[in-house]
Amino acid sequence: MTHPIITDLQNRYTAKKYDASKRVPQADLDVVYEAMRLSASSINSQPWKFIVIESDAAKQRMHDTFANKFQFNQPHIKSASHIILFAHNPHYTRADYAKVVDKGIEDGRTKPEEREQAFGGFAFAEINTDETGNTATWTKSQTYLALGNTLHVLARLGIDSTTMEGVDSQLISDIFKDELDGYVCEVALAIGYHHGDEDYNAGLPKSRLSSEAVMTVI
Ligand SMILES: Cc1cc2nc3c(=O)[nH]c(=O)nc-3n(C[C@H](O)[C@H](O)[C@H](O)COP(=O)(O)O)c2cc1C
Repeated sequence: MTHPIITDLQNRYTAKKYDASKRVPQADLDVVYEAMRLSASSINSQPWKFIVIESDAAKQRMHDTFANKFQFNQPHIKSASHIILFAHNPHYTRADYAKVVDKGIEDGRTKPEEREQAFGGFAFAEINTDETGNTATWTKSQTYLALGNTLHVLARLGIDSTTMEGVDSQLISDIFKDELDGYVCEVALAIGYHHGDEDYNAGLPKSRLSSEAVMTVI
């Protein structure tokens, strides 16, 4: 018997056409949002912002970010239930990490008297910071972990999704300037339910490189 995790991962796929009449129930959204918040990251840095586009007004703004490129992804913005922007902090600093350390104290994970020692992990951020203070390669990697986690959770919940690196990061920065607050969005996720007849991708078989090609157990 196939393990349910494998069934979920075999069933999930990238939706190419959404049913605009269907919306993800709030109870499922709550699970998705909490799963995102619980995502793992290096030194628990959590260098991300998740901006959920739910209202028609916000969807119009997102729709407008496709003015110049990646128009093939644009139809999802108004037909999917929600769009989630995965944004990373391109300049992660010690002050950002202090929020993590202090939350660790609040949550009872770190003793208040061990606050200074808790900054030891910040060395990982430092080795991933260039001479201009840019941490984008590292923080973006963390944000993709949250993305992967989200894809799996959506599969479990039977919610369809479309990951979109085909987004105009510059226009998103302009149009969602206030919400992003300096963070950068280079990947977004449409979620909802695929169109019954018109999603050509829904019926195609899953295709991946063989286990032999990608897996080595030693
Ligand atoms: C980081 C990332 C970016 C992607 N960008 C797009 C995109 O812009 N538009 C799109 O239709 N699919 C996009 N995809 C979907 C991939 O093409 C798809 O995940 C891959 O072909 C595997 O197929 P499956 O998701 O149906 O299993 C993206 C997937 C990932 C993980």
